[in-house]
Amino acid sequence: MKIQWIGFSEKSSPIELRQSLGAKGKMITWYSEIDQLEQSINDPSGIVLFLHESETYSVYELSREISLKYPVVSIVLLVSEVDYKKAMYSGAIDIVSLPVVEKEVAKAVSEAERLIEEKLSTHTNPVENKQGSVITVCSTKGGVGKTTVSVNLAVALSKLNKKVVVLDLDLQFGDVAILFDVQPKKTIYEWVKECYEQDGENVQSFITSHSSGVDVLAAPLLPEFAELISGIHVTAVIEQLKKHYDFVIIDTPPSLVETVLVSLEHSDEIFLITSMDLPTLKNGKLAIETLQLLGIKDKIKIILNRDTEMEGMKVDTVEKILATKVDAKIPSDYKTVVQSFNKGTPFVYSHPKIAVSKGIVSLADEMVNGPENNTKKRSVFRMFFRKRGKVNVTS
Ligand SMILES: Nc1ncnc2c1ncn2[C@@H]1O[C@H](COP(=O)(O)OP(=O)(O)OP(=O)(O)O)[C@@H](O)[C@H]1O
Ligand SMILES: [Mg+2]
Repeated sequence: MKIQWIGFSEKSSPIELRQSLGAKGKMITWYSEIDQLEQSINDPSGIVLFLHESETYSVYELSREISLKYPVVSIVLLVSEVDYKKAMYSGAIDIVSLPVVEKEVAKAVSEAERLIEEKLSTHTNPVENKQGSVITVCSTKGGVGKTTVSVNLAVALSKLNKKVVVLDLDLQFGDVAILFDVQPKKTIYEWVKECYEQDGENVQSFITSHSSGVDVLAAPLLPEFAELISGIHVTAVIEQLKKHYDFVIIDTPPSLVETVLVSLEHSDEIFLITSMDLPTLKNGKLAIETLQLLGIKDKIKIILNRDTEMEGMKVDTVEKILATKVDAKIPSDYKTVVQSFNKGTPFVYSHPKIAVSKGIVSLADEMVNGPENNTKKRSVFRMFFRKRGKVNVTS
């Protein structure tokens, strides 16, 4: 595996870093002009960038920009005082404190090599590695229905006799467990602490089960625990869950943080949730553009939640704004959805026959049986899928 080791700061590289990398047999090329740095990012196989703090730019913001634009780059921050919150959103894979200590550099090098190897193996050999299907449910706008769709889709898939787990990657404020009314004793945080360092394999011990048959790997019980969980852990936990489940449904926070980007990268399909209002659509468009930059736009399916036509806003308009077709529509039913939230019972479980449930069941049916063999298609097609007005379905 050939990795390009590069560094950036306005000043010269810390000599201790060069020495520490030299001790591991790595040569680093240092840049002090951002244009030169950009030109150097041309090797899609593996680049590790050591990004030095500065008084003239925010190292966290620069890291975020680079990681969004060049997802192949694994960034290690060089900072004297770590701001963990900012670091969490920076897209960096590791942090080395200044002044540089050899042991820390060695650890960052191993993490970077491991991450790049994992990235390469999923890119070069996706089919052989694939077991269960991974679906990430996302949106860059909050409150559009990601958790509602994740939880109810999981129940719908489980009803089709599939083994399903919901992984709650809304690591700070995840509420998947609340929607299932389960009290997890162990979460992804305990898995990272107690299991990941061993071999990560015993993931089943960290799962909480719901009476619908759906399993949950819950978000940490306290928001501050989220900081411990990085993209490397997410990669590993997805790999483990895939071994045990037909479907791994991943609920996410409303932003493309590093853990979400890793999840998107490891997904077979990305369900981008949107609704019929301009701020959400604007965000949706930006998300699509970002995923295009990351080279994963083809995995996107657009799920239009709360599909109720507003004045001046129709499905056609949505498709025009997003410049892509809407793949599935879920009707609006505020009363049922809120009741289901408050009772902790997914509506697909408690009210399978109502329109909002049928929208999700139809989506699940299509995922399992394919569009041609969607058994419910004829009955619910009229209500929830693309064509409006006179429906013309050929058998
Ligand atoms: N189809 C729907 N019809 C009516 N209300 C809905 C529908 N889907 C979601 N809601 C309502 O929207 C609100 C937000 O839903 P949800 O928590 O699933 O969104 P989210 O995208 O996960 O939010 P966050 O970004 O905060 O995690 C909830 O109060 C829910 O009741
Ligand atoms: Mg949510």
